[in-house]
This record gives sequence, structure tokens and C-alpha cells, in this order.
Amino acid sequence: MREKISRREATRLIGATAAGLLLPTGASRAQAKSESSTILTRAIPVSGEKLPIIGLGTWQTFDVDLAPPAIKPLEEVLSAFVKLGARVIDSSPMYGRSEQVIGDLVAKLEIRDSVFLATKVWIRGKQAGSDSMERSLARLQTKRVDLMQVHNLVDVTTQLATMRDWKAQGRIRYIGVTHYESGSYVEVEKVLQSEKLDFLQINYSIVEREAEQRILPLAQERGVAVIVNRPFGGGDLFGRVRGKPLPDWASDFDCRSWAQFLLKWIGANPAVTCAIPATNSPRHLEDNMQAGLGHLPDANTRQRMVEFVSSL
Ligand SMILES: NC(=O)c1ccc[n+]([C@@H]2O[C@H](COP(=O)([O-])OP(=O)(O)OC[C@H]3O[C@@H](n4cnc5c(N)ncnc54)[C@H](OP(=O)(O)O)[C@@H]3O)[C@@H](O)[C@H]2O)c1
Repeated sequence: MREKISRREATRLIGATAAGLLLPTGASRAQAKSESSTILTRAIPVSGEKLPIIGLGTWQTFDVDLAPPAIKPLEEVLSAFVKLGARVIDSSPMYGRSEQVIGDLVAKLEIRDSVFLATKVWIRGKQAGSDSMERSLARLQTKRVDLMQVHNLVDVTTQLATMRDWKAQGRIRYIGVTHYESGSYVEVEKVLQSEKLDFLQINYSIVEREAEQRILPLAQERGVAVIVNRPFGGGDLFGRVRGKPLPDWASDFDCRSWAQFLLKWIGANPAVTCAIPATNSPRHLEDNMQAGLGHLPDANTRQRMVEFVSSL
């Protein structure tokens, strides 16, 4: 991660510059500009490969007709997503036409090398799991998927065994498991302890913070990358903040919207590798991507953010 400087420090430097004491060179100005326009990344613990901290979920939003009126905004979403430097796209055979829509658009836009495709297996039985993964790769139009996850831990031991075989054959790059509700954390914890995983995908947001207690520390301890689902509480969080002004101190960490406030709060947790907000709106996509730029809130500010949202 880039080094952060505090607002006070930034103000001091700007003041010094204005007084002619610290004139930035052309090179350092260019560097500052490029740093603030480059999406922040975190390393996958098992490999060191870096992923941008903001990705894209596709539940509901990508389950659409392949005809132009529905597909056009999604094409714009994916095109902007890649142009803005993001990579992780999450799907599942459980998400209706999502995998097929992603596969078609990735092929049409010729962006396979720029994206990190994550999908899931959500079925019982060894053969059924293998067949499901074959269908996912076919729909995604790829010979090798970046991440395969056991959706909601369904038949987890069986599916992980197959996924390890596929990984050895080079058809899957990373393996993981997912869940989305705290009632299942005991089971998630057991799997994290007993299996060697590359990734965990779990729900975490400013109003769903239970993963902080045991799941995120355990993932860190076990060297497991964390993808955060439901970063906006499935969208419910917007009902809470809509029409309310951002606190003026949000600009301290380069935050200009509620979506950025909620995503930066997640991205600032060092246990998190990437958050995957879902949207079918190009405007919302651009907003969400801004959360991956500039400064992130420090620990004290994150606490202040929790209190602020709780008070609304
Ligand atoms: N068990 C699992 O594996 C599991 C469970 C849950 C989720 N997931 C994954 O995680 C992803 C994210 O979770 P989620 O889809 O449940 O919910 P979410 O990302 O928390 O919220 C999505 C909602 O937020 C809205 N939204 C997005 N950006 C916005 C913005 N900038 N301003 C205003 N509204 C905005 C979207 O509407 P618009 O389309 O109008 O922007 C959509 O209704 C899923 O899509 C899926 O890929 C996995």
C-alpha cells in the first residue's frame, strides 16, 4: 500500500510550498498526480499478486437478457471498470445469467487479460460439482478461472478436493469459500482452520461488523485473502444515508460520496483484500471506483465513521 500522509502533514507541506520553501519539481508533481489517480492494491497473501481494493459483484445486477437495452449499461460498466484499473469480478452459477453475460462482454470488449474472474460452485456431489465448474468456465468463455469458491460452504470438503485437482491442472488459479451471514461464522471458522484456502469471501460493512471479531483476524493469521461481499448491506445502507450530508471531515480521506465513505471504511481494514460492490449503473460504478483512490481513513477515523453512521 502507498504511504499515507496526514491532513495536517499535507497542510504543512502545502503551506511550505506556498511560502516558497518546498517547491515541488515537475517530476514530483507528476508523481503526486499519478499516485492519486492509481487504484490502491493489496497483495494476495499466498502469491503476492496485487489486486485493486475495489472489484465488482454481479448478483441480480448482471442477471439480464442478452439483448441491447439490458446489456448496454453493463457493457459500459465493464468497460469503465477496466479503464479505471479494477480487476476482480465475482459471479456464481446461482446468479442466473450473470456468468454468461460476463463471458460475452469480456469476450466482446477483449478484456480477459485485464480482469480477475471469480465464480463459485453451489451444488452437492463430486460429479455434479465438477459438471457445474465445467459449465461455469464455458459460460465465462475461459480455459482457466482466476478464483473458484465454494458458495455458502455447500458440500465444502467434496468441492474443495475437486478444486485442488483443477488447480493442479492449471484450470483454477486460486481456491476459496464464501458466506454472507454471521449465523454461519462458526462453520466458516472451522473451515478456515481446517482447510488450506487462498481466499475467503465474507460479508462486512459499516453496519455488519461481526467478521471483525474472529473471522478477519483468523484469515490474516492463516494468510487468506479476503473479498468483502454486501459492502452496502445489499444496498440497504443507502436508505439510511440518502439525503444526509457527509461529515465535512470526509474530505480528509478524499471521500466525496456516501458510496465512497462506505467502501473506504472497508478498504482501510488491512485484513481486506478487495470489496465487490454490485451495480448495473455506469455512474455508480465510477463513484465506487473513486473509493480506491487517494487516502484511506486511519483507525480512529474508522471508529468515528461507525459512530457517525450509527447516529443517522
Ligand atoms: N454467499 C455469497 O457468496 C454472496 C452473498 C452475497 C453477495 N455476494 C457477492 O457480493 C456482491 C455484492 O453484494 P450485494 O450485491 O448483495 O450488495 P451490495 O454490493 O452491498 O449492494 C448492491 C446495491 O447497491 C446499489 N449501489 C451500488 N453502487 C451504488 C452507488 N454508488 N450509489 C448508490 N447505490 C449503489 C446497487 O444498485 P445499482 O445497481 O442501482 O447501482 C445495488 O442495489 C454480490 O453482487 C455478489 O457478487 C456473494
